[in-house]
Amino acid sequence: MDQAARKQQAAQAALEFIKPGVTLGVGTGSTVNFFIDELVRHRDDLAAIVASSRATEARLRARGLTVSELEDTGDLDLYVDGADEANKHFHLIKGGGGALTREKILAAASRKFVCIIDQSKWVATLGQFPLPVEVIPMARSWVARQFLKVRGQPVWRENFVTDNGNHILDVRNLQITNPVEFESRFNQVPGVVTVGLFANRPADVILMADDSGVKRLDRR
Ligand code: 5RP
Repeated sequence: MDQAARKQQAAQAALEFIKPGVTLGVGTGSTVNFFIDELVRHRDDLAAIVASSRATEARLRARGLTVSELEDTGDLDLYVDGADEANKHFHLIKGGGGALTREKILAAASRKFVCIIDQSKWVATLGQFPLPVEVIPMARSWVARQFLKVRGQPVWRENFVTDNGNHILDVRNLQITNPVEFESRFNQVPGVVTVGLFANRPADVILMADDSGVKRLDRR
């Protein structure tokens, strides 16, 4: 089974969380795209859908689904999204698609966060995947220098502007042994909009697909 098939399996497994009347946040990325394609069959159960990016919004609308604003829905029942890395504490690295800030807002605003991944995303220590950091453009170099102090290697994602009009630094060479502390510390650096670490608000459920099927992991 190839990686795309595993992503599709994980996405399909998330459908069991769609209950009648659910208010749903939808993440961004290729795994979530499979979820969106399946979601259409459950449209009658959806009280409201909020998108984490313009790309997701467009895909939802293209399938005839109505997209609402978080401002109008209030808190959400469920958030479904992929990840770039996940560990046994349900901490995640996200933002490979550059949607990390809106994703983090929806994760925080949701009572349950279901993360859908294939097994290649499972790691012992976060940081092999370059950590995406959304930055205010005029602070980009200054923020980059703050990551150099912890031996990170920040790389500007050139020719990319986030849905919020900002830039992304991808910070390589990190071994994030304390994700909660790291997230809190670097979120406070002036000029950082958010770091793509989801540790203070981890996933609640991980659905991980490998060749033998989809494993469900629940955070205690
Ligand atoms: C986008 C994300 C995605 O969830 C992450 O990059 C995983 O993407 P994919 O499902 O394509 O592997 O955080 O900002």
